[in-house]
Amino acid sequence: MPKDSARPALHDRGCPAWSITCPVPEPGAEPCMRACTGEQVRPKVLIWLLLILLLCCLFSLGPVFTYSVGNMVFLHASDPAVVRDVCLSVSPDELGKSSYMKVTHHPLFGDGILKSNGDAWARQRKLIAPEFFPDKVKGMVDLMVDSARALVCSWEARVARTDGGAMELTVDDDFRTYSGDVISRTCFGSSYVKGKRIFAMIRELQKTVSRPNLLAEMTGLRFLPTRSNREAWRLNRRVRRLILDVVRESGEADGGNNLLNAMLRSGQAEAGVGVAAAEDFVVDNCKNIYFAGYETTAVTAAWCMMLLALHPEWQRRVRDEAREALAGGGALDLSSLQRMKQLTMVIQETLRLYPAGSVVSRQALRELTLGGVRVPKGVNIYVPVSTVHLDAELWGSHAREFDPERFAARPQLHSYLPFGAGARTCLGQGFAMAELKVLLSFLLFRFEAALSSDYLHSPVLRLTVEPEHGVRLVLRSVRPNGES
Ligand code: HEM
Repeated sequence: MPKDSARPALHDRGCPAWSITCPVPEPGAEPCMRACTGEQVRPKVLIWLLLILLLCCLFSLGPVFTYSVGNMVFLHASDPAVVRDVCLSVSPDELGKSSYMKVTHHPLFGDGILKSNGDAWARQRKLIAPEFFPDKVKGMVDLMVDSARALVCSWEARVARTDGGAMELTVDDDFRTYSGDVISRTCFGSSYVKGKRIFAMIRELQKTVSRPNLLAEMTGLRFLPTRSNREAWRLNRRVRRLILDVVRESGEADGGNNLLNAMLRSGQAEAGVGVAAAEDFVVDNCKNIYFAGYETTAVTAAWCMMLLALHPEWQRRVRDEAREALAGGGALDLSSLQRMKQLTMVIQETLRLYPAGSVVSRQALRELTLGGVRVPKGVNIYVPVSTVHLDAELWGSHAREFDPERFAARPQLHSYLPFGAGARTCLGQGFAMAELKVLLSFLLFRFEAALSSDYLHSPVLRLTVEPEHGVRLVLRSVRPNGES
């Protein structure tokens, strides 16, 4: 039961590493600036120092500056002209993914689509992209609805068991279950029960590889048996075994028309390169899709609910829209989802304030000019997404406020990058929007949400920007006609 249904004050525990740059959830509330104590300090000191350094550079050097780490050169750019040129660069020969971090991230991504370049990337993109074209997504909406319905039913059962018809819960893990279930069913033809252990291990791998590992990055010595390397290798071996199990089961089944089968066919076509290489191809890309489609969507759904809980007026608007679509037991399909304008704007605004991908990173694969800046081959380019998304010159003086209405008009290309930029833009964005809309419309149709007084606002960077302590909500059932 909620202790207090009034809007909560901003807590100052948790010391968000991101609170300098992140918008605070409650207008007028003080951002958390209290020093952390105890265990939390150590891992965050580095992040704080880095942020302070970057902010000093930003204020003293402007929106384009370079720095070096060892022999690696970084171009940090939030200048609109540079960002626009990064967005417009669609040739895979110009900009690729940075080889920096490839070492540390290798157990998680291998040589899959997210981190590869050149021909290897083009081949994988050509194989995977069609699986997320609108006509394919259209056929996946029913599976998304099944997963959302399962979640809503379980919450309804829990609310029914409470005295006051309301319950308090942290939503993040349930949202991970939902996105895991959706991705397992739609892309891999398996249910979340099978995928569950894979996701749990991918999450562990994510935490392990997102710990700073400067030594490996600077020396390239990813083979050193440090504690975190050994942990990452162990998890990687287990993920590989589990994925190959799913692959085997899928091979024994009907060989349906999903992403996994497309990858298998392509892997088999490469049989000339050897069984191990063909297996690597399938395993690496499965890991990439599990990661790309799992964390990002779940975290975005959690931020959406946090913002809607803080803004009841928008919650009401989205609920009205969901009622219209679901009235009389109506079924959701891609066109009814596309008609949900209020919800679309809420998701877009959430992704502006809390972009799951905090940075668009590239490496110049040849010398080129971006926004009038000459960039030699090999330079790493960092576009800090939150800096761009909160720039008052691009978004107006209320850039830090939640105002979905700003998306009534299409934003300029270089001012909005939640799904990345140029040739490497997210190929699951249509799928992700459909998945988020199904979940949020089902939830708001059945529940009214308020932020719990125990909620701690603490966005942290763990490859994605996520709520460190989760999003804790108070949920109250609403009837389809609007009664509580
Ligand atoms: C709200 C959810 C999501 C967000 C915010 C998001 C964001 C991103 C971002 C920022 C990138 C990097 C783009 C760049 O470097 O320019 C990316 C790439 C990618 N995303 Fe997503 N994504 C989401 C959901 C999904 C889903 C559901 C899938 C698939 C099931 C997916 C598949 C991919 C793939 C395969 C790439 C690599 C594209 C390439 O390198 O060619 N994403 N995504």
